[in-house]
Amino acid sequence: MKEKKGNIFTFHDKVIQRVEKEDLLNQNAYTIWLTGLSGSGKTTIAQILELELHEMGFTTMLLDGDNVRDGLNNNLDFTESGRRENIRRIAEVNKLFNDCGVVTINCFVSPTNDLREMAKSIVGEKSFLEVFIDTPLEECEKRDVKGLYAKARAGKIPNFTGISAPFDIPVNANLVLNTLNISPEESAKELLEFIKPKISKG
Ligand code: PPS
Ligand code: MG
Repeated sequence: MKEKKGNIFTFHDKVIQRVEKEDLLNQNAYTIWLTGLSGSGKTTIAQILELELHEMGFTTMLLDGDNVRDGLNNNLDFTESGRRENIRRIAEVNKLFNDCGVVTINCFVSPTNDLREMAKSIVGEKSFLEVFIDTPLEECEKRDVKGLYAKARAGKIPNFTGISAPFDIPVNANLVLNTLNISPEESAKELLEFIKPKISKG
């Protein structure tokens, strides 16, 4: 029995192990974690990657900040504590999917090394692949696909990453994708080459 915050509960062991589910799907489950500024290209690259993996026969789940904040995390803001809870829940969701043998692809700003380390420790270091989508702030602001940077500069969005909230350059990235002068298709291909040997059964 475990006791936490006044609640007593019983933790039940799994009846079917993760490895058995991975065997069924003929793949190794990983959490692929894309971090980077808003507008850096996380979503675009992740969508291309997911499509390619699906066509190759892998079972995947794409989790994206904009979408998750519309559902599961719609009660969270962009304060430090809101982001921490956002990433904590998402990491727990990743663990559940990985336990089902599913390869997850994540697109979250996850702006600090501390948040990314928390996600890694929840998911488990061995399953966690951190990918830094390294697009400089100037380029993201120039693209301003959603018009958010203009609003943030005008003071209409508080705590906007890169403008009024911090973004730490990742110190533990397993892969860095520089998106300047490289198409999203090429970036996705580089990412695919990196993860394919890991998620494939030998
Ligand atoms: S975080 O920091 O990991 O909790 O953020 P995340 O869940 O990935 O959500 C980022 C998307 O929310 C939009 N948005 C903001 N981003 C950063 N800062 C602020 N203040 C903010 N407000 C709204 C924005 O569309 C982000 O999506 P991307 O795809 O990164 O542009
Ligand atoms: Mg996005």
